[in-house]
Amino acid sequence: YLADKRNHRHFMKKEIYEQPEVIARALGHYINIEGNSVDTASCIDFASVPSVAISACGTAYLAGLIAKYWFERYARLPVEIDVASEFRYREIPLPPQSAALFISQSGETADTLASLRYCKERGLKTGAVVNTRESTIAREADAVFPILAGPEIGVASTKAFTCQLAVLATLAISAAKARGTVTEDEVKALVGSLAEMPCIMGRVLNSIQPDIELLSRELAKCRDVLYLGRGTSFPLAMEGALKLKEISYIHAEGYAAGELKHGPIALIDENMPVIVIAPHDRFFNKTVSNMEEAAARGGRIILITDEKGAAASKLDTMHTIVLPAVDEIIAPMIFSLPIQLLAYHTAVFMGKDVDQPRNLAKSVTVE
Ligand code: AGP
Repeated sequence: YLADKRNHRHFMKKEIYEQPEVIARALGHYINIEGNSVDTASCIDFASVPSVAISACGTAYLAGLIAKYWFERYARLPVEIDVASEFRYREIPLPPQSAALFISQSGETADTLASLRYCKERGLKTGAVVNTRESTIAREADAVFPILAGPEIGVASTKAFTCQLAVLATLAISAAKARGTVTEDEVKALVGSLAEMPCIMGRVLNSIQPDIELLSRELAKCRDVLYLGRGTSFPLAMEGALKLKEISYIHAEGYAAGELKHGPIALIDENMPVIVIAPHDRFFNKTVSNMEEAAARGGRIILITDEKGAAASKLDTMHTIVLPAVDEIIAPMIFSLPIQLLAYHTAVFMGKDVDQPRNLAKSVTVE
């Protein structure tokens, strides 16, 4: 049993630390590292589809939300996305020439499967981004994009999330290439960044634990936590909040940083930690000004940024976690690591059962 966890105390920790290895395997399946090219050949012809629909639940849905930014930005493809339990009933006017992607670790989630069947009935080409290749969703989809994360035992999804992101990034890049919305050099640069990712993840995992452990002792005392981010860091803020509430039972919300003043700012006082996810990207200055608004109301700021962001921000934070500065396409995967570890260590510190949190099942096969 211990051997299965490779000497880690919990499956969740083992799965967090496995990410460099499994992401390398997943990427190796879709990109040619020597040639910096991408190959996601399937029956879905992204060059000719007018739009993409994405449906999934929980963490898989949040991976899909990040992928929406990529498909829209790089491939200029509009993406319609919703949680599967809404998607299947919304009566969305979906053009039958569109492609639809279903993201699911287990491949058995009832609402995601129902969304897949709904799209198939309407003539859309369907693709399954799954971890379990023998699953129902994989069997019923026209194309299967395995994420190759290996078995995920911890109920809180970690390595499946980053592998889903890695595979969705390669799909967005290959769609962009097919549609001629990026140059050959841009493709090379994007693929080159993806190829560097496992190594950077390994470095981050080896260095941030002491910082995170310290911080998790503070978080463990809190009743509520707010996560903020812009761009792809917004779905990541929601993922951070989901992870924390699932295993520590601390109430947490993820918000788009720009929405702060439209409501949640009213919650901020000296008891409210505000975790700001801010790589030094084109949104950085705007996110920092939202962070200043929270700090001015007494919010205790925990900034997760990179070396460039740390140098640029003058704000006195309660804590700053500094990651290496990386290209925008891989930032969501790299910034997932402190978010996962923060939830993990907080829950362990509180004595919670991190692998099997109360009321949750690994796979939700009923509506
Ligand atoms: C993630 O930490 C959750 N336990 C949950 O949100 C999960 O991602 C969701 O139930 C979807 O599962 P699936 O990927 O197997 O479809």
